[in-house]
Amino acid sequence: MSIFFFSAAAVLLSSLLAPVSGQSSSSCSTSLTPTNSIKPSVASGYQAALVATGLTRPRSIKFDNLGNLLVVQAGVGIESLQLQDNGGTCITVKSKKTVIQARTLNHGLALSQDGRTLYASSPEAAYSWDYDPATSTASKTNTTLVSNMTTEDHTTRTLLMSQKVNGTLLISRGSTSNIDLEAEVLSSGHSQIRAFNLLNITSKGYDYNTDGLRLGWGLRNSVGVAEHPNTGGIYSVENSVDQATRDGQDVHEDNPGEEMNFHGYLNGTVYAPQGSNYGYPYCFAAWAPSDLPMNSNLTVGSQFAIGDQNNTINDTYCAEQTLPRLTFQAHMAPLDIVFNNSGNDGWVTFHGSWDRTDPSGYKVSTIRFANGEPVAPANSNTSYTDIFANANNDVCPQNCFRPVSMAFDSQGRMFVSSDASGEIYLVLRDEASNGTIEGTGSSGSDGTKTSGADRLGSSFGALVFAALAIRYIT
Ligand SMILES: *[C@@H]1O[C@H](CO)[C@@H](O)[C@H](O)[C@H]1NC(C)=O
Ligand SMILES: *[C@@H]1O[C@H](CO)[C@@H](O)[C@H](O)[C@H]1NC(C)=O
Ligand SMILES: *[C@@H]1O[C@H](CO)[C@@H](O)[C@H](O)[C@H]1NC(C)=O
Ligand SMILES: *[C@@H]1O[C@H](CO)[C@@H](O)[C@H](O)[C@H]1NC(C)=O
Ligand SMILES: *[C@@H]1O[C@H](CO)[C@@H](O)[C@H](O)[C@H]1NC(C)=O
Ligand SMILES: *[C@@H]1O[C@H](CO)[C@@H](O)[C@H](O)[C@H]1NC(C)=O
Ligand SMILES: *[C@@H]1O[C@H](CO)[C@@H](O)[C@H](O)[C@H]1NC(C)=O
Ligand SMILES: *[C@@H]1O[C@H](CO)[C@@H](O)[C@H](O)[C@H]1NC(C)=O
Ligand SMILES: *[C@@H]1O[C@H](CO)[C@@H](O)[C@H](O)[C@H]1NC(C)=O
Ligand SMILES: *[C@@H]1O[C@H](CO)[C@@H](O)[C@H](O)[C@H]1NC(C)=O
Ligand SMILES: *[C@@H]1O[C@H](CO)[C@@H](O)[C@H](O)[C@H]1NC(C)=O
Repeated sequence: MSIFFFSAAAVLLSSLLAPVSGQSSSSCSTSLTPTNSIKPSVASGYQAALVATGLTRPRSIKFDNLGNLLVVQAGVGIESLQLQDNGGTCITVKSKKTVIQARTLNHGLALSQDGRTLYASSPEAAYSWDYDPATSTASKTNTTLVSNMTTEDHTTRTLLMSQKVNGTLLISRGSTSNIDLEAEVLSSGHSQIRAFNLLNITSKGYDYNTDGLRLGWGLRNSVGVAEHPNTGGIYSVENSVDQATRDGQDVHEDNPGEEMNFHGYLNGTVYAPQGSNYGYPYCFAAWAPSDLPMNSNLTVGSQFAIGDQNNTINDTYCAEQTLPRLTFQAHMAPLDIVFNNSGNDGWVTFHGSWDRTDPSGYKVSTIRFANGEPVAPANSNTSYTDIFANANNDVCPQNCFRPVSMAFDSQGRMFVSSDASGEIYLVLRDEASNGTIEGTGSSGSDGTKTSGADRLGSSFGALVFAALAIRYIT
């Protein structure tokens, strides 16, 4: 079953993604060399280009009002990249400026609606600074908005500023371990997404665990959060549990799936499941239901109990918790979701697996939406289309790109950060293109796409980022 599954996935990938080219385009002079020998591939109908290299663990990215790209470098602070735009995929970094130096900042980044207040997060708190895009400078002092979030293991605190309800800041927080039983205690604040009203905040700030509006709990580690541009509906993407067993059997290779969940609206419109239990730490979404023992009626996206079922925690209980809106292949580690302007496509980054024999993820995919909802039904296992991916996941996680965060520029070009490789790429929808990567003026490697069966040659150089390896922050 799983052998068939993997070869099917490999065929799908190779039919979608065109080989990359190592030549620089004549119309764009840049000499960036991709960090890794095997460069990512891009789907037919898109173009991609390397924009920046040599960054330190770039996580969230965001354009300011003047088109400067703000980047959180985990453990370093926030950098502003001024870009030289020569059109199409020809974009280079003109200059860089440090906006905030703070080693505690590790992931979250947001801007106020007017672009004059910057928000960023450490494992403990969300802060704000006054921000001037004309000079890429932030105020010397910060304001602590929401605190009391320090815990182990999943330490990113994703920030999302609502574009629909002014002054509403969403913060997503994960669990303290793979299976964190404290997440059942609502006042622990673990594995929740909460919304905070900054318009009436007092100087004391908010306590994450007890203040604000809870949009959901039982969300193991929902690093990606987005607001739909038409409806204002809030979607999140969740990193689900590792090393799952059920009824004494190891089922972790293809179960559970990663989830996309829906949390309703911020404007007061009632959505009954808002704030409810989305399953964790007891219930998880099936991805390969036929691999699950004691399974009478589970389909893709059904919530099932792991471990040994009993008279309180069992599949009946799990079916009653809020179900995912979509389920994705196991262990792909979704870290961001961003909608395009029309709201017809949701882009998702999959940082990539460590808990799977054959690596999964390490790619950017899109999900079709209509009327503010995914087009695919909840039991679909084909809801996403790969746009930008490593040609060969055998080199992952050490020697491949690991997408984290995305931002559209004002012209609808998608920028993608890769923390492990210290890079930022751009992806451009272009019906005329055949899927080549431009502006990568290098290198020894011919970037030839290899099939999933190929093994690494000896040509891989020592890589600065190899030490980042497997389990650093997701
Ligand atoms: C915020 O300001 C406090 C007080 O000056 C400082 O200790 C802290 O490091 C700052 N935090 C960040 C993330 O810059
Ligand atoms: C949004 O809130 C800020 C204060 O945080 C305020 O200055 C601004 O005028 C508000 N904007 C709108 C459109 O209400
Ligand atoms: C701000 O308003 C929200 C919603 O109206 C409320 O839940 C919250 O308690 C208020 N915060 C403060 C500090 O008054
Ligand atoms: C942090 O949370 C604990 C309970 O988990 C509470 O006792 C404490 O007062 C909170 N601290 C702050 C600064 O809000
Ligand atoms: C809130 O959002 C919902 C969903 O998009 C919409 O139907 C409703 O009209 C909005 N309400 C207000 C007061 O804007
Ligand atoms: C039922 O299973 C849950 C989850 O494994 C466990 O926490 C609970 O203690 C079990 N209850 C009984 C009565 O065994
Ligand atoms: C499953 O758990 C529910 C309570 O969550 C209980 O009512 C039901 O009897 C249990 N089913 C079995 C077969 O133990
Ligand atoms: C599967 O069967 C269980 C036990 O009969 C039931 O409680 C549950 O609702 C069913 N789940 C689905 C997804 O149909
Ligand atoms: C985004 O929206 C535009 C405008 O409606 C559309 O043409 C495009 O195909 C969408 N999809 C993606 C993946 O950007
Ligand atoms: C989706 O489910 C079908 C039917 O169970 C199965 O044949 C197929 O291999 C699955 N596809 C993926 C990508 O898992
Ligand atoms: C794409 O491929 C087709 C056929 O192979 C070719 O005719 C066309 O010129 C190519 N387009 C680009 C932009 O390279």
